Amino acid sequence: MQHTVKAAVLVSGSGSNLQTILDELHADPEAPLEVALVLADRRSAHALARAEAVNIPTRVVRPRDHATREDFDAEVARALEEHAVELVILAGFMRIFRPEFVRRYAGRIVNIHPALLPSFPGAHGIRDAFEHGVKVTGVTVHFVDEGMDTGPIIAQRAVAIEPDETLESLESRIHAVEHTLYPEAIRALVEGRVTIDGRAVHVCPPGR
Ligand code: GRF
Repeated sequence: MQHTVKAAVLVSGSGSNLQTILDELHADPEAPLEVALVLADRRSAHALARAEAVNIPTRVVRPRDHATREDFDAEVARALEEHAVELVILAGFMRIFRPEFVRRYAGRIVNIHPALLPSFPGAHGIRDAFEHGVKVTGVTVHFVDEGMDTGPIIAQRAVAIEPDETLESLESRIHAVEHTLYPEAIRALVEGRVTIDGRAVHVCPPGR
């Protein structure tokens, strides 16, 4: 029998990506993934309610309650350990971990970014691409390394920017792509279909 990977999903906001992970993976008995913890850096994150609705343990770790970033990272690490977390899934989590934390979970932290990295990293990937006037943007799923949105790329999908596009229409089309790409990439990861060799990530199609 396949090992079920215990994951934590780290969130700061609405949690629409968390929701697709819950629906497509956690709720699918065929998918070897259990969301064992949802951790937020603020109490107002709507994602917490999504987790509570399906009885998943939640934890709030707020930077303002910690004197240093080391303390904050240590508190997050303790919560992950308490829940025996093997895979850390960032889904709209607006904090950067210190290098020590990232190294500890190397190859076991993933993030989704709403642009085609390495273009438009940072907190406003959709808007930055739109304002730059690119004709194609998209979504990237990547391993987290010590930089900001710089880790090895697992999956990408392009989204063309249409002539009559508005920022709002682009945001909603990007989110729709995120909601299929992230569960697909995480499924590949927990099914053991992802191999990483330096910056090169190879993803085997299902059923091979
Ligand atoms: C997504 O656009 C994701 O790419 C970015 O933050 C947003 C989170 O949205 N990192 P949600 O909280 O999953 O709805």
